[in-house]
Amino acid sequence: MVIAPSPAVTASPWTDPFGRPHTYLRVSITDRCNFRCGYCMPAQGVIWRPRSEILNFEEIERLVRLFVRGGVTKVRLTGGEPAVRRGLEELIARLAVIEGLREIWMTTNGSTLAKKADAYRRAGLTGLNVSLDSLRRERFAEIARRDELPKVLEGIETALGAGFRPLKINVVVMAGVNEDELLDFAELASDRPIQVRFIEFMPFKGNGWQRGDLYPAARMREDLRERYRLTPLETSPNAVARGFAIEGGKGSVAFVASMTESFCDGCNRLRLTADGTVKSCLFLRADGNLRDSLRAGADDEALATIVRDSLARKWKEHPPMENLLATNDHSMLEIGG
Ligand code: 5AD
Ligand code: SF4
Repeated sequence: MVIAPSPAVTASPWTDPFGRPHTYLRVSITDRCNFRCGYCMPAQGVIWRPRSEILNFEEIERLVRLFVRGGVTKVRLTGGEPAVRRGLEELIARLAVIEGLREIWMTTNGSTLAKKADAYRRAGLTGLNVSLDSLRRERFAEIARRDELPKVLEGIETALGAGFRPLKINVVVMAGVNEDELLDFAELASDRPIQVRFIEFMPFKGNGWQRGDLYPAARMREDLRERYRLTPLETSPNAVARGFAIEGGKGSVAFVASMTESFCDGCNRLRLTADGTVKSCLFLRADGNLRDSLRAGADDEALATIVRDSLARKWKEHPPMENLLATNDHSMLEIGG
């Protein structure tokens, strides 16, 4: 007997009008954070959403299962800071058993890793990106408004020891703030099995971005070539980062040129915000509220329709940077990058 799959179960992944299959879901599991990075938090501070507005673990698991049936094979947990969510290990373990979900990653500020990296690994976390914008203690404290550099560095070592290799470090490069540390970060990538990813500073609601704050990836590459020979690494067509091996190094460097070198062609990303909306692009307004439908008793097919409708409205690429601010309705805290 052949059992017909339910309509929500697709043989091929959800695809947008430009033929791009969407196999990667980024899930923001909280809008809260224990750091206060200026480029992420709106200057006037943030009002956390009440807990009732944030998806609970059952809801997250149900939605991730839905996305996996739609073809998603990789999930990344983001925030805010995902590690401030109580019971995170339990959530990871619940996702780790979902058939068809091959990878679970997390982007974290690293503040919990010294204590928890092993637990995350045991629960089934596949990989880690640690956000770290300065290797100088005072500067770190100014950027994050928390004096936690030693703890983050300890966390990185613990995570490497727990088997998170290569570990990725995300550096948001801001002109006049930390662009003088590129070589120091590259040294870290040379000495340790770490990929350092240099990210262009992007505008988000309330983060005070100005054109002059942008330090283009082309300049970053020039700076690094003063000391290192960089050889392009093969990257997947979906990768936003262009990676380079460092001659003789244990790790590598990569550049995420969100602002100056469009990489929308290979986009395979969907985003679920902490309050349960779908975003088909970091720079598009959220256009589907899964949480309310789910809480009103919607079945999987109705929920899948919300995602497919959102995908149907996806654009080919984001407009030039000057126009981006106008369309971004969530601060970084709610989308997690
Ligand atoms: N521009 C670029 N990257 C950002 N991130 C947060 N805000 C911005 C921004 N304005 C990064 C963080 C983290 C990831 C979640 O997104 O540093 O690595
Ligand atoms: Fe927290 Fe990350 Fe935002 Fe910094 S960038 S305030 S660590 S969520």
